[in-house]
Amino acid sequence: MRVMIVKDYDEMSREAAKIMAKQMKTKPNSVLGLATGGTPVGTYRELIRMDLDFSGLTTFNLDEYYGLGPDHRQSYHHFMFDNLFNHVNMNPERVHIPDGRAKDVKAFCEKYEDEIKRAGGIDLQLLGIGRDGHIAFNEPGSSLTARTQLVALAEETIEDNARFFDRKDDVPSFAISMGCGTIMEARKLLLLANGEGKADAVAALIEGPITSQITASVLQMHPDATVIIDEAAASKLKRRGYYKHTDRLFRDLEEKGGR
Ligand code: GLP
Repeated sequence: MRVMIVKDYDEMSREAAKIMAKQMKTKPNSVLGLATGGTPVGTYRELIRMDLDFSGLTTFNLDEYYGLGPDHRQSYHHFMFDNLFNHVNMNPERVHIPDGRAKDVKAFCEKYEDEIKRAGGIDLQLLGIGRDGHIAFNEPGSSLTARTQLVALAEETIEDNARFFDRKDDVPSFAISMGCGTIMEARKLLLLANGEGKADAVAALIEGPITSQITASVLQMHPDATVIIDEAAASKLKRRGYYKHTDRLFRDLEEKGGR
């Protein structure tokens, strides 16, 4: 796992956008896995500013609240169009976001998995992390090999996400989420985290044991995972100095065209 510790949210967003832009330029028909939440907003803003070509891309989002239709202001569908797709030349027909209104959820989840496979698999999956160490909506205790499924949200997650809703009671109790197994099949993973509130989750993800209690810890088993965190989110890591040192070495090497 490559750990990049940066100064703040803006630098995290710029570094993440650079990695995504590189993927898009190297493979204009890339399949990107996208995430929602406050964390990736700056990255999306940066990608819009870079005026990149999205026309050949296919995207798959990690999750969607169960019960919310695409027009609901708090749906992840709405979030993605508002924060990214409406501002770039993305073909809406190649945008995939779980359908929060699916009648037959099981059949829908199987179809979502099939669509990812038919698209050739995800090249680069962007991820945030919840305070309880979840990725997508894979809450503590969720199987590390799970596929796309209906999941129940943890109380902590409902509290955290209530800030996007008028009232806490409006936050749906369920979501349709890619499973950790689905996420782990992406060729590259890029997880972002910022702020002190994420420091415990980040420490557990990078330095803790691999456990379904911190579903993000499954990234330790991925052959090509990068984690970009700001100083505050990195504050509880024991080997901070080491990560900074190796990151500097890799950056030097990359500048010289060695990677
Ligand atoms: C939700 C999303 C996750 C996201 C997390 C953190 O639970 N399903 O994909 O990583 O929130 O959100 P934020 O970036 O707002 O802290």
